[in-house]
Amino acid sequence: MSTFYVTTPIYYPNSEPHAGNAYTTIAADVLARYHRLKGSEVCFLTGVDEHAANVYNAAEAEGLSPQAYCDKIAPTFVKLWERLNISHDIFFRTTSDLHKRGAQKFLNVLYDNGDVYKGKYEGYYCLSCEEFFSEKELTDEKICPTHKLPLQWLEEENYFFRLSKYQDRLLAHIDENPDFVYPAARRNELLNFLKSGLQDVSISRASLSWGIPFPFDPEHIIYIWIEALSNYITALGYETESEQYQTFWPADVHIMGKDITRFHALLWPAMLMAANLPLPKHIVGHGWLTKDGEALSKTRGIFIDMDGDIATYGVDAFRYYLLREFSFGNDGDYRPARLHARYNADLANDLGNLLNRVLGLVNKNFDGTPEPTTPGEFDNEIKQMAQATVDKLDEHIKAFAFDTALETIWEFVRRINRYIQQTEVWTLAKPETKSRMGTILYNSLEALRFISVLISPFIPETAEKIQKQIGLSEFDTVAEWGRLPVGLTVSRGEPIFPRVDTKKQKQPQPKATAKPKQKQEPKTTELVSFADFQKLDLRVARVLAAEPVEDADRLLKLQVDLGTEKRQVVAGIAEHYTPEVLIGKQVIVVANLEPATIRGIESQGMILAGSGDSVVLASLEEDMPLGTQVR
Ligand code: MSP
Repeated sequence: MSTFYVTTPIYYPNSEPHAGNAYTTIAADVLARYHRLKGSEVCFLTGVDEHAANVYNAAEAEGLSPQAYCDKIAPTFVKLWERLNISHDIFFRTTSDLHKRGAQKFLNVLYDNGDVYKGKYEGYYCLSCEEFFSEKELTDEKICPTHKLPLQWLEEENYFFRLSKYQDRLLAHIDENPDFVYPAARRNELLNFLKSGLQDVSISRASLSWGIPFPFDPEHIIYIWIEALSNYITALGYETESEQYQTFWPADVHIMGKDITRFHALLWPAMLMAANLPLPKHIVGHGWLTKDGEALSKTRGIFIDMDGDIATYGVDAFRYYLLREFSFGNDGDYRPARLHARYNADLANDLGNLLNRVLGLVNKNFDGTPEPTTPGEFDNEIKQMAQATVDKLDEHIKAFAFDTALETIWEFVRRINRYIQQTEVWTLAKPETKSRMGTILYNSLEALRFISVLISPFIPETAEKIQKQIGLSEFDTVAEWGRLPVGLTVSRGEPIFPRVDTKKQKQPQPKATAKPKQKQEPKTTELVSFADFQKLDLRVARVLAAEPVEDADRLLKLQVDLGTEKRQVVAGIAEHYTPEVLIGKQVIVVANLEPATIRGIESQGMILAGSGDSVVLASLEEDMPLGTQVR
């Protein structure tokens, strides 16, 4: 049986977890769930890095001992992971005896192998990064480049690790293994850094008491990063070389934010080389989640309202948004309006409506899952696409491209919606076509089962709901076409993504002095002459391109083809449609509207849409040649 070992960083429990921690952990969870689905024996490790100076300070500020403080905060991580459906196998604490003993053994091995020596250190230190900075990395103000906080000057007798000795081996390893560091940009950063030369690192602290004592000099404690990195083996039972350790080391994937990739891709491998242990296979450094373009920061009050958004949209929508919206290696700005748009467009419309529609038709026309007796047009294509989706998904997951992985699944979701449309299955209830109807509905149900398997690593709760609704009592994890039994009782279909009215929840209350806004009733009484109506030039157009408008959560900039010419139109539909859903769609454009400039962008026309609590684009019942007049 193949094995798969994935880890998150162990987070500092100086305060409760935030959305940045959640982002990394959700990504690791997808990998763990995906590999379990594929039949691997998986170990998924996460935990907390307790011996930090920040933890010590936070404890002091509350008048607690550091251990008591950790005992209070560590469970808040576990609680969040439960809330987010994280399927970790180990939640590890570095104050555990297992870790303490393992870390000390590891230090002894480094010492015995001759890579630890005593020396004097002086330099600038960031308490939040727990990292020394050299003069050349700093400006005159001596501010931490990541945390923007003043650095401390530290001077002491320390033990050092001969990191410089491993420079050439590290360079060769990263050079020869293009898959070692993801994404490529991070790998290049590291190669450049390596080429500029590695210095030995100090690995002990004589001035601190909160930490694990050096095994061969109890006056010192182990530098937190050395101790923390070793958690990836100590948690498995490195100390006793347990069966679990032998099964899972080396790790398949260490996943983390870009801030700490260097520790994982240079220091950690060098330590492992020094201990003659195998290296992890992949180091994945993802981008930062930002809010309004700024790094999340408790001290500066920049945070993401994770609890609020999960309460409104559900945990799967939150997971889906983070994984689908951002390219994993790049920074991503968290925007509730985009979460709302993804919820409506991808989850409620594309997937939720598909499920409801299919269940509705099955319930109305059949007694349970119909038999697929009458093959016809598109059936083979659907089956082949299902298989192709599995293969593509695998490629994307191997490249840690969660966004394209989900997009690939959604192409299949949309194809099934189109299958229903193209076959006009709802018209086939007559006796002579009923068996074809049954086949199409069987295929649609099987496609939904298939989809539920593929989405289960990303949005596990939804996957289970879908299988329950199509009548499966036990979750079927196999992505092979045709496994759905005939004759299952399908449910009536509760919406899996019920409509969310953010207006109700999020609108600020009107101030007491402000006049309450009258709800505008649509005007239907004012008559226009036929001649006036005829002045409107309404035309069929196709969306060629669509993109969000910077700093305008509601707007999309569209390029549309009117047959004879192309136009740019700005439309206020971003909360209801994602750009990729629009591309290729036919729409109706008011072609002779005066151009207007909206947020600095010229809009040459207007797109028609039904506009009430939600917004739905107007189109003709069937596609027509571009430029056709609508009257
Ligand atoms: N304790 C060390 C890690 C030791 S691992 C052997 C540490 N802890 S931390 O609490 O600061 O967590 C840092 C990690 O949290 C980042 O690497 C990243 O995985 C995650 N994130 C923290 N803020 C983040 C964002 N704003 N955006 C995305 N991820 C972020 O460093």
